[in-house]
Amino acid sequence: MAKYIIEGSKRLIGEISVGGAKNSVLPILAATVINRSSSIIFNAPKIKDLYIMIKILKSIGCKVKFSNNIVYIDSSTIDKVEIPEDLVREMRSSIILLGAMLSSCGETIISYPGGCEIGPRPIDLHLSSLKAMGAEINESHGFIHCKSKRLTGADIQLDYPSVGATENIILAAVKAKGTTIIRNAAREPEIIDLQNYLKKAGCKIYGAGTSVIRIDGVDSLKEVEHTIIPDRIVAGTYMIASAITGGELVLKNIEVDHIQSIIAKIKETGCNIYNNCTALKIVGPKRLEPIESIQTLPYPGFPTDIQAQTMALLTLARGTSVITETVFENRFKHVSELIRMGANIKIVGKVSIIKGVSELTGAKVTAKDLRGGASLVLAGLAASGTTIVDGIEHIERGYEELDINLNRLGASIKRQF
Ligand code: UD1
Repeated sequence: MAKYIIEGSKRLIGEISVGGAKNSVLPILAATVINRSSSIIFNAPKIKDLYIMIKILKSIGCKVKFSNNIVYIDSSTIDKVEIPEDLVREMRSSIILLGAMLSSCGETIISYPGGCEIGPRPIDLHLSSLKAMGAEINESHGFIHCKSKRLTGADIQLDYPSVGATENIILAAVKAKGTTIIRNAAREPEIIDLQNYLKKAGCKIYGAGTSVIRIDGVDSLKEVEHTIIPDRIVAGTYMIASAITGGELVLKNIEVDHIQSIIAKIKETGCNIYNNCTALKIVGPKRLEPIESIQTLPYPGFPTDIQAQTMALLTLARGTSVITETVFENRFKHVSELIRMGANIKIVGKVSIIKGVSELTGAKVTAKDLRGGASLVLAGLAASGTTIVDGIEHIERGYEELDINLNRLGASIKRQF
């Protein structure tokens, strides 16, 4: 297993350009199966999850090429409806192919995604919505077999603004007969990006970014070119890298609007942040201030995907901080590892109480999930001595060349096999 060996206590200084968003490129790549034509996707990040999605697309017959952060897809050659089980296991968000394959082929077979590193990942909202649109769904032996000649539009009220369920319904609805309305839809920027891709392909879809999305089904879609939005979670992670090392970083190619909730909280730690719409400078303080209360919430609330990294930051604050995780109840696997590095953290249910310490010390720790892994790298940047982070394949699922980028900014990280 590959690992990062980090020599800590180095102040990060410099400029970094943020790449395309993982959570945008994955549903958009899934969407490319629908037009049965070509799609060209720019600003695609070189991350493990993208390579898995490309393998999936190839496995069902798409022609795919990836070079210079551009993905070229030709989905006119699709000749299979079954998504290989081993690839679904490697990337649970491949469940997004349910809606896309129903629109493309009227049928798909996909293995049940089950639980994952950050807790159970139920898909009840995905399945009940597709059923409401007329899909026939049979679940047996761990597989979901989904079928429908042509779905019909439906009025769907989501119990929770699930990102994946909203995307799956959109993808199923674009070629359905009639109109689909999604109420209490997820409002994440990645949903807007998906809408923008689909609009260029000829879909009639309105309202992404609000709680009500309307899709009028069309008969066919056309070829499309699209550029992925910047990754707001990667941007937040680099902001924290600057904050935790008392550094001075300039982030380029970001969408400041998408990270307002992160900016607001990180400012509370005493960082100075200057920004225009697409760039930001963050200067870390000598000593960090605690944050009285953070609650993770669906967008535009504070993202669960930046909870672990923020916790790493607060381990070094002058006082006690409280983070409540309301989105994924089990998302605290990084805590035991941060404690190995000298952090003082207690978990009571979904609440974590972080008492700041004056120093973290390097230790051997294990990344157990993507964002938790990033939090350990951040802690290692600030810790005295050497931190060894094992299990970095989790981190590489969602960060493009994290070690190389941080080294350019003054960190000392060796990637070892
Ligand atoms: C997406 C993101 C992930 C992010 C999450 C929340 C992608 C590829 N992943 O995941 O990085 O952390 O949004 O912002 O975009 N739920 C149900 N039933 C369902 C679906 C979801 O109960 O059918 C629950 C989940 O257990 C969780 C909550 O809803 O507690 C949010 O999940 P959801 O928004 O669906 O997250 P994902 O789409 O899986």
